[in-house]
Amino acid sequence: MTNLSHLRRDFPILRREVEGHPVIFLDSAASAQKPIPVLDAMDRFYRSQYANVHRGAYRLSQEATELYEDARRRVARFINAGSPDEIIFTKGTTTALNGLSSSWGYDHLEAGDRIVLSMMEHHANVVPWQLVAKRTGAELVYVPLTTGYDIDLDALRSTIDSRVKIVSLTGMSNVLGTIPPMQQISDIVRAQSEAVLIVDGAQLVPHVEVDVQTLGADFLAFSAHKMLGPTGIGVLWGKPELLEEMEPWEGGGEMISTVDLYESTWAPVPQKFEAGTPPIAEAIGLAAAVHYLEEIGMNAIRSHDLDLTEYALHRLGEVPDLVQYGPTDIKSRGGVVSFTLGDVHPHDIATILDSRGISVRAGHHCAKPLMADLGVTATARASFHVYNGRDDVDALIEGLHEARSLFGLSEG
Ligand SMILES: Cc1ncc(COP(=O)(O)O)c(C=O)c1O
Repeated sequence: MTNLSHLRRDFPILRREVEGHPVIFLDSAASAQKPIPVLDAMDRFYRSQYANVHRGAYRLSQEATELYEDARRRVARFINAGSPDEIIFTKGTTTALNGLSSSWGYDHLEAGDRIVLSMMEHHANVVPWQLVAKRTGAELVYVPLTTGYDIDLDALRSTIDSRVKIVSLTGMSNVLGTIPPMQQISDIVRAQSEAVLIVDGAQLVPHVEVDVQTLGADFLAFSAHKMLGPTGIGVLWGKPELLEEMEPWEGGGEMISTVDLYESTWAPVPQKFEAGTPPIAEAIGLAAAVHYLEEIGMNAIRSHDLDLTEYALHRLGEVPDLVQYGPTDIKSRGGVVSFTLGDVHPHDIATILDSRGISVRAGHHCAKPLMADLGVTATARASFHVYNGRDDVDALIEGLHEARSLFGLSEG
């Protein structure tokens, strides 16, 4: 990958200090930091290009529309979508999954039908399905994990049948780092049901090259802010015939073709799903983030994540009393490392690390069903992106040794 110290200069936040220490940011799975090209693109738009889109006959609005639609084209290319029309801008992964559940889910589910999820889903891929299950009488079924922290494919095989209408799974766990074998999963789902397969790509898309032509999914959701882009925007990709068929989940301006007092008709896809003024500056920021990731290269980012994760697992293995949750096979996981340290509460670990300028996440990571399955209430979690290096892992390990001694854990 591009020289790390050179690349770190692109992230102004890494120049600031916390508690007298330089920022060591190990919480990119929650939200990633932003490089200068993203900040500049949004700043430039607000300063000199700003107007609403799709509305004005005047130059500024036309330019803003061009930038917004260009962002759609760039995102489409990034995930190899067949057309930019397959890209719907949403507020984020959560909004995309809620849109799917309340529109596709509500229209296609009835009592007796099943929605299949895994035990390692983020709440964003659990609660929307609970809501639609309540409204329709459909049933939620959870596929268990193997002892290696992956989706149990035998259990999946015995779960999928003609009652299953929706399968919605994470593309990469935000707690375990697991990257389930989606094509294999897709083959099982297709062979045994007519269910749609939805992939929650919130963690996957920022780190692994995703090609929707080969992923095996019908829908894919992801958020810009985890891929070095801004908050407030995400993407729902869908197969064109499914997007055509799906009803909008929000009404308002921008998404209509005609409106009279009692009836309206919809604009073509993707506008049909983009009611109201869209996140224009955010789309421009997302496009800049995609460009930035492409310049580094998704394969280089994947190798960097693998190297760092392997190093982190090795170094964490040296810390007594530390339990790591996630696959040991490096190839089937990403750069997210969850752990507990003896009976030290993960929040205490995070506080001690914070006093050294190190940001890690502690808690249930919006995955309470998984926490219950693991038999813990919380873990600490370090997660990486392009600006992290082995030096950050070394700092983490030093901090963990300090936590051990502060909490009186004995050596060996
Ligand atoms: C796996 C996964 N899915 C969904 C989400 C929700 O993303 P957002 O909050 O951007 O909507 C997250 C965020 O942490 C996540 O990690």
